[in-house]
Amino acid sequence: MNLLTQVLHLVGSGAVAYITAANIRDPKSRPNLLAGFQLAESGSVPFLEALSKRAAAEGDEWLSERLAKHAQDEGRHGQIFAHALKQLNKQVIDFKSLPQKPDDGKPDERRRSPFFEAYYEGYDVKTMFMPDRIDWLLFMGSTYILELDACKDFVRMANALPDDPISLNLKKGMISIAKDEEGHAAYLREAMQRRLGYAKAEALITEWRTRKVNAMIAMATNLLQKGGQLPSMARDGVPSELAENPTKFNSAGESTTQPVAA
Ligand SMILES: [Fe+2]
Ligand SMILES: [Fe+2]
Repeated sequence: MNLLTQVLHLVGSGAVAYITAANIRDPKSRPNLLAGFQLAESGSVPFLEALSKRAAAEGDEWLSERLAKHAQDEGRHGQIFAHALKQLNKQVIDFKSLPQKPDDGKPDERRRSPFFEAYYEGYDVKTMFMPDRIDWLLFMGSTYILELDACKDFVRMANALPDDPISLNLKKGMISIAKDEEGHAAYLREAMQRRLGYAKAEALITEWRTRKVNAMIAMATNLLQKGGQLPSMARDGVPSELAENPTKFNSAGESTTQPVAA
């Protein structure tokens, strides 16, 4: 990573840290942030499960086991956020119920993510990111950076929460999520080293760090233009099905505005 990237990384991280901390501290914006996390966490489960099966079919038991555990963890993270939303008497918006194109003809802000558009620039996410064909190194490099940063971001946000009993519960949940994300980053780094050796794995990590910096700037710019407001992903009320089947409400592959939920 060159000096400019390093400086931008700090500036981008600082801006996003400020916005996410402000959003989680404010009871009005907290549900949106939590809903975004729930979508991202639960949405990754089917993908990771399919990757685990593929790794087994390709004879990589080591990777398959870790991916299966990873999928389980993300399912649990989704449930923690679903539960936190339920306690606030909110639920995730069912994206399937949204019109594909709003009346004004512009794409729905809730369906696009400036962060992921920039992060995966040059890749056709719709066709290349299928679990049966995604390049393993593309998956490992991109996911490693998201997991590594998610760990720090969740700790920081947990500490930004107020001290009421419901928030304390969420705080505990977020700290335990952060621990899992640390474990995910660790196995992904090892997976890259097993395939590439140390030096090439480090080069791949640098490439994805640089992409993340650019994507953070894209996201921060977009958020600041909207005055730090996240698009609405939560609505009032909790259906009973949510408790039984949290993944029913996910929108796998759909955008979330947050890079932190991995
Ligand atoms: Fe994770
Ligand atoms: Fe997670």
